[in-house]
Parts: sequence; C-alpha cells; structure tokens
Amino acid sequence: MKKAIKEVLLTEAEITTRVKELGKEISVDYEGKDLLLVGILKGAVIFMAELCKNIDLPITIDFMAVSSYGNSSRSTGEVKIVKDLDFSVEGKDVLIVEDIIDTGLTLAYLTENLRSRGANSVRIVTLLDKPDRRNIEVKVDYLGFSIPDEFVIGYGLDYAELYRNLPFVASLKEEIYS
Ligand code: IMP
Ligand code: MG
Repeated sequence: MKKAIKEVLLTEAEITTRVKELGKEISVDYEGKDLLLVGILKGAVIFMAELCKNIDLPITIDFMAVSSYGNSSRSTGEVKIVKDLDFSVEGKDVLIVEDIIDTGLTLAYLTENLRSRGANSVRIVTLLDKPDRRNIEVKVDYLGFSIPDEFVIGYGLDYAELYRNLPFVASLKEEIYS
C-alpha cells in the first residue's frame, strides 16, 4: 500500500486525540436529547466506530449509502440514495457522520432530505473538510480537520475502493489516479 502514499497528513495518534475531543463536545451538546448518529457508508465507517465509542450518552446509530463519486477522484455532481436508513428519523436529533466534505453536494442534499422527513434537528460532524472545493454552502457543526485540496485516502477514505483500511490519512500519489 505504501506505493500509493504521497504524504501522511494526519497520523493515527492525531486522529484519535481529535475524535476523543469531538466525542466529548457532542456528549455535552446532546445531553437529554434523542441522538441518532447517521453514518454515511462506506467512508465514514471507521470514523463512526471511533466517534460513537467516545460519546457518553444513550444513542442509536444507523447508516445510509449515497453515491456521488463513482470510481473517479472527482465528483460527478449527482446524489443518489443507494441504501436508506432502517428506521424513521421523526423527532430524532440527527447527527450525520461523514468522512469528508468536498464540494458539499452530498451533505447539502442529505441534510435537506433528513429535515424533510421530520427530524427534530439535523447537524453534521465530519472528520475532514476541503473548504477550497466547496460549491454549495454547508454548515459544518463539528469538524475534525481542515485539509488542503488534495485527494486523500485512509481511515475509511478510498480511491477506487482501496486503502480504506490505512489507520491514518494520507495524500494519494498523482501517478495512481492520472
Ligand atoms: P462532496 O459531495 O463533493 O462533498 O463529496 C463528498 C464525498 O466525496 C465524500 O463522502 C467522499 O466519499 C468523496 N471524496 C471527496 N474527496 C475525497 C478524497 O479526497 N478522498 C476520498 N474520497 C473523497
Ligand atoms: Mg463518502
């Protein structure tokens, strides 16, 4: 896997520390609420697993899969629900758990979609944000790290479905995707 890595941007230790902080913050903010974590498959799976262990509240979790990327390294500008939630979000305080915000298209669509289903509140926690690439304004409520405009892999993030299992976040060598 080393062949694909250009540079490690966030080490496993850095991510662990930040995820613990986010978990604490969320635990305080959602005290007494009916918190539902909605993880966006598959990229958010590792972040979701780490984050939920650091939330000290009785919560429920669910997952959705959307497609907007195909197997390329650039967005196609289309959002489609590939796997929907198992349960209703009505009256729930929904926190969408995402791996990365790039153009903002996926999260703009999802927040609107979940609000229209009668959620009590809909907020966003994302491990990574690439603010330079934003096309649609999206309010990020909880952010792990802001990163430069580079294609990244690891800690759940893939390139052509590979490298999700790297325990850190790294940039991908240009020669891999060009
Ligand atoms: P957006 O709709 O353009 O914000 O794209 C969000 C989705 O694109 C994320 O959930 C990722 O699946 C994917 N994505 C965006 N940037 C990257 C990246 O650098 N590496 C891997 N996946 C990415
Ligand atoms: Mg994703």
